[in-house]
Amino acid sequence: MAPDSNNQQPDFTARELTDTEYEEIRLMIYNLCRLSFDKDKKQLVQYRLGKRLRDLGFDSYRQYLKFVKSQESGEELTALINALTTNLTYFFREPDHYDFLTEEIFKPYSKMPRDTRLRLWSAGCASGEEAYTIAMVMREAIPDLERRDALILATDISTRVLDIARKGIYTIERFKDTPDALREKYFEPVDINGQTHFRALPSLTQFIRFRHLNLMGEWPMKNDMDVIICRNVMIYFDRETQGLLVNRYYEQLKPGGFLIVGHSETLTGVKHAYEHYKKTIHKKSE
Ligand SMILES: C[S@@+](CC[C@H](N)C(=O)[O-])C[C@H]1O[C@@H](n2cnc3c(N)ncnc32)[C@H](O)[C@@H]1O
Repeated sequence: MAPDSNNQQPDFTARELTDTEYEEIRLMIYNLCRLSFDKDKKQLVQYRLGKRLRDLGFDSYRQYLKFVKSQESGEELTALINALTTNLTYFFREPDHYDFLTEEIFKPYSKMPRDTRLRLWSAGCASGEEAYTIAMVMREAIPDLERRDALILATDISTRVLDIARKGIYTIERFKDTPDALREKYFEPVDINGQTHFRALPSLTQFIRFRHLNLMGEWPMKNDMDVIICRNVMIYFDRETQGLLVNRYYEQLKPGGFLIVGHSETLTGVKHAYEHYKKTIHKKSE
């Protein structure tokens, strides 16, 4: 850290993000994960990365970027992505999608032969609340779920939020839209530093696989998804990337499978082959 020559105060002006450095970060992030930061988001990026620079003891973004690029492990690039992604989420967010899953996916599935596969993908799952909510409604709708072949894949590019998802421990605020009875049935209270948190029980965790995955990279899983839930992720991508992604999702779905997007997202203006099923719900032809 560069101390001020007189009073040993840190010289914050040394950590001013220049337009050239900002452009470099924008390009790096765009090329890796297609997250597009507008020109007017410089303050936000500077704010989010400032702590990283402070923690690592770099005086300037120039030094920091040199470090990111020189590091073979890519560890700091991961940290940079962790700092720049927006991961807001909570249980039962946009609840009508869970009603759709219950009525049109889980209940019909519960009447199918026991060995029928069911695969759901929470793409851009952040800290896991979406996947745990799917697991709760799935359990509620399918009485013999434990004897069936149903799984939820939950993926994100941020290793920071995936760590939280895998631990499955949340504060009470995250449950603001969750019926108490469901929280009590599927989570156990745990004391952390004198504060009560809630930990997901194996009755949920056994149905979820959390994986690190960049949506812009390879997808190593089988293309037999029944439902892909990708909500509040595509808003951070430009139109061209959204188009590429929804068409890749189409290939990943089984015939008759569904893509669910967030309520502030639309496929309007994107060339695709889905049938419009309901607002924000799109179907691959049978
Ligand atoms: C706002 S959260 C959405 C969480 C949840 N789906 C919901 O609607 O509550 C967006 C997530 O997308 C992830 N994300 C952004 N770009 C990604 C990419 N290229 N590959 C994988 N995940 C990405 C972010 O890390 C973040 O956790």
